[in-house]
Amino acid sequence: MLGEGSEDSSCSRGAIAEEGRGWTASKGISGNGFHTLDDFDVRGRKVLLRIDINSPVDEKTLRLVDGSKIRQSIATVRELMDRAAKTTLIAHQGRPGDYDYIPLNEHAAFMTQYLGRRVRYVDDLLGPQALRAVDALSEGECILLKNVRSYEGAQDKKTAEEHASSEMVRTLAPRFDLFVNDAFGSSHRSHASLVGFTYLLPSAAGRLMEREVKTLTKVFQNPSRPSTFIFGGTKFGDALAVIEKLAERDSVDNILVAGLAGYAFLWANGVNIGSITEKLVEKDAPQEAIAGAKRLLSRHGSKIHLPVDAGVDVEGKRMEFDIDRLPADASIKDIGTKTIEEFEEFISESKTIFLSGPPGVFEKEEFAKGTASLFNAIVNSEAFSVIGGGHSSAAAVKFKVIDGFSYQSTGGGALERLMLGKSMPVVEALKASAKKF
Ligand code: 3PG
Ligand code: MG
Repeated sequence: MLGEGSEDSSCSRGAIAEEGRGWTASKGISGNGFHTLDDFDVRGRKVLLRIDINSPVDEKTLRLVDGSKIRQSIATVRELMDRAAKTTLIAHQGRPGDYDYIPLNEHAAFMTQYLGRRVRYVDDLLGPQALRAVDALSEGECILLKNVRSYEGAQDKKTAEEHASSEMVRTLAPRFDLFVNDAFGSSHRSHASLVGFTYLLPSAAGRLMEREVKTLTKVFQNPSRPSTFIFGGTKFGDALAVIEKLAERDSVDNILVAGLAGYAFLWANGVNIGSITEKLVEKDAPQEAIAGAKRLLSRHGSKIHLPVDAGVDVEGKRMEFDIDRLPADASIKDIGTKTIEEFEEFISESKTIFLSGPPGVFEKEEFAKGTASLFNAIVNSEAFSVIGGGHSSAAAVKFKVIDGFSYQSTGGGALERLMLGKSMPVVEALKASAKKF
């Protein structure tokens, strides 16, 4: 049977010892300090699997725009079903009060389609309907419970131990043998459904979590060189913190800053970027960001590369200007051709490329050139390439190059935190659990 393996592989996985009401992996921690699915024999076991299928929602139709994050969660679900576990999925979508806080039945339909096997949606989380459905599961079956954020304390930021005494964890934990966390996109959050169960149950990272942590840790800590990190998007303040951290590392060779962030950098260093662009930049540029940008350029200017020209919106049409010739009221919407060519050169010479944030306003055809050109250069290069963040991925899907990237991360905020070298609450909780069980 697939995944269950022969004598040999069950040995490398570690036998399971009955202990108290649950079980522990009696030997072997096959992840980097945490358990993986290799450490447990899940046949016939009740498994609670936390996934991150939080997806973009169309504001008008309130339907999912795209199922790519759902698709990335499938591998672990499929493996558990193949290995005859009784699987209950928990997940979130949006936040209560926001338009994208919609029920998960469409997500279940996507999963059913991708898996070719039924994932039944149960519109209850902690009530009798949910508990009956959990208890009635047969081997190889899978259900998805109601949005965990329907539970009021779901988003409280607490420790695993504190969350372990919440109603959600106290109600569900006793019904399961194993908790699996595959929600890498949420691994920067210390929420009840993400860390609470690890305190009470043997816990493992899912396959996506395992792969994301391993791949991204390598890219951020030990990239093949030359390494090039490309930032775009509009969040200058956020990008700055990450760029500062990266610039200090010897293993980082080039940092290319496009998008509004690139022009914000120039502006912070006294360059005129046009009044309209300036207004946009100012919204996300606190005083300390301006000071930070100056400091960064003076210390690490040789590895940070900024736009030398721009695609400007002149009554809806694209016009290009060199940076020192921008009109006083310029509205910059893309990087210009000279910048594109310069950045393409860095890309073609790199062995590792990481990109987060689109280089321009790719949604508008006139201003899609920078994004499309750089993406094409990346997927046509020899480099190991990583794309992260929801907007960049949506752009790559639009230009049909998403499959050309070596690695697509499901992380947005999680990715950022990992890049900063900060600890990840979900990974820490899995590690603490591995010491216990
Ligand atoms: C995300 O999409 O960023 C993750 O699913 C986390 O969601 P949150 O930002 O609402 O916590
Ligand atoms: Mg988020």
